[in-house]
Amino acid sequence: MNDKPETESLDSGGAGPGATAANGPIGILTAGGDAPGMNAAIRAVVRAAANAEVYVFGFRRGYDGLIKDLAEPLSGRSVANIVQRGGTFLETSRSDDFRSREGRARAANNLKRRGIDTLIVVGGEGSIVGATAFSIETGVRVFAVPASIDNDIPATDFSIGFDTAVNTALDAIDRIRDTAFAYERVFCVEVMGRDSGFIALEVAIGGGAEAVVVPEIPLNLDDICNRVAESHRRGKRSSIIVVSEGPRTGGVMPVAAALTERLKVNARVVVLGHVQRGGAPTARDRLLASRMGIEAVKAILEGLPSSLIAEVRGEITRIPLVEAATRSRKLDSSLIDLVHQLST
Ligand code: F6P
Repeated sequence: MNDKPETESLDSGGAGPGATAANGPIGILTAGGDAPGMNAAIRAVVRAAANAEVYVFGFRRGYDGLIKDLAEPLSGRSVANIVQRGGTFLETSRSDDFRSREGRARAANNLKRRGIDTLIVVGGEGSIVGATAFSIETGVRVFAVPASIDNDIPATDFSIGFDTAVNTALDAIDRIRDTAFAYERVFCVEVMGRDSGFIALEVAIGGGAEAVVVPEIPLNLDDICNRVAESHRRGKRSSIIVVSEGPRTGGVMPVAAALTERLKVNARVVVLGHVQRGGAPTARDRLLASRMGIEAVKAILEGLPSSLIAEVRGEITRIPLVEAATRSRKLDSSLIDLVHQLST
């Protein structure tokens, strides 16, 4: 089944033997920051489409590739051996051109020329905002599959890549803890998340941190220093403070500087950075991506309007894109208390 070679021509469509254009071709791209599990999502879409005899065109390099028409047919075979790979084999970008109406109109023309009226966008919050505008302006049906290590996409409890990023950061913290304990040191570890503290909070709980700094709550250096000082009074000799990156928190440096100055501890700094974005997706992310990819194709075949594929209380569901855009996603700040309670 479905084993056409990767080299098949545009005319052959690429959905695999038996594929017909009866359902009309669909496009797929990955946009914004890459996230582990994006490949698993593409694979699920392509294979579900092939099973339903729907052609799939992959657009390389995100929305930029849509505007430049960097399309290639994707067969069931062409997505072999990618479920375990991080990043995205379709590549991605943050496209300035797609922010303009003119850029979006060019993208829509390219789709139209190929007879594509439905696009799957695997991407983060910014990419989904772009997808919503694109769909409203051009009438192209868009199905958004949420993928971002930040887990900040409104209307879905989880986005693809978050679980892997948290586990990668936790692995790093476990290693840091070994040396922190051995050397009786204070470590301040900066994690990603942009304007959201979801990664920081889960990593702080799972990593047994003394304190956590998230963008949603104003930085209180007195509180952090007091907590570390108090833990030292109780006999602890090493501590880990998790700090979410970004302009809203000020990042890890001011926290380390305050601890060093006030507690005379020479706090060490580790910035985990893009390490958190790479690597093989966890089982949880592979499963989530596979379920969401399949669901996107199902929703397309059922004739649904533009939708976000979401995980809500464990169920994979669809939410109209315009409705999803009105939702917001809030950090459960009561979990910060958990960090404090558990670090006693
Ligand atoms: O949105 C994902 C993310 O990794 C954020 O956590 C981070 O702030 C940002 O992307 C980094 O973007 P870039 O890879 O463009 O530096």
